[in-house]
Amino acid sequence: MSDIKISVIAAMTKGERAIGIRNTLPWRLPADMALFKKHTLNKPVLMGRLTALSIRGPLPRRLNLVLTSGEAPFEGQIAVKSIEEAVQFVKSWRDALPQQATLKKEQLEGFQGSAPIQEYESYWAEWEKKYGSVDAKIDELMVIGGGKAYEAVLPHAHRLYLTQIDATYPDADAFFPEYDPYEWDIVHRETHPPEGNYHGFSFGIYERR
Ligand SMILES: NC(=O)c1ccc[n+]([C@@H]2O[C@H](COP(=O)([O-])OP(=O)(O)OC[C@H]3O[C@@H](n4cnc5c(N)ncnc54)[C@H](OP(=O)(O)O)[C@@H]3O)[C@@H](O)[C@H]2O)c1
Repeated sequence: MSDIKISVIAAMTKGERAIGIRNTLPWRLPADMALFKKHTLNKPVLMGRLTALSIRGPLPRRLNLVLTSGEAPFEGQIAVKSIEEAVQFVKSWRDALPQQATLKKEQLEGFQGSAPIQEYESYWAEWEKKYGSVDAKIDELMVIGGGKAYEAVLPHAHRLYLTQIDATYPDADAFFPEYDPYEWDIVHRETHPPEGNYHGFSFGIYERR
């Protein structure tokens, strides 16, 4: 489709591929949240409207795109109607970043030691708090859920970041779609044993064959 890789990042139960209950995550797993943060920071993220609602605002330091036929629920999120529109948006964003980085450099260097420097510093600090580093190399769109968004995107995905949790949730009402493991090569794997009240899980990165 383009030089932007489409990646899917999801956490699910091992057996049923459950991902949600009543528009929320069924579990709390700080070690998995840390992996989510590590693999999404400074990258554009794409989510379904219901996931955007459940997150209750844009994720900081990431460009936030929301798949919807209507409006994005919160300020700071950008509505897109399809995965193609999302990729187009990311490409124009990526292409504008070098100009932003140059502008930042010129403003911060050009005004060293003079009064406006503080204004520029706080402008760029705010900008990067919202969208991530202006120097980010953007070549990947991270699709972060939920079930409907995963379903639409999985056939186009190049890479999967999957957390598989040792737990069952009979009340789950959102699921990761069925996928064929033989279509994917594992390139990274780590296991996290249960810790206190937290479930054990494995985390893997897969590339399409
Ligand atoms: N475990 C995890 O890793 C994980 C990650 C994220 C979310 N979740 C969970 O997943 C659940 C939410 O998933 P969900 O399936 O109910 O909803 P969802 O995928 O988050 O959002 C569904 C909405 O997104 C829009 N949408 C989805 N696909 C579209 C497409 N191809 N084109 C245009 N719009 C599209 C539609 O919005 P409109 O109705 O506005 O058109 C649709 O109603 C929650 O429980 C959440 O906590 C889990």
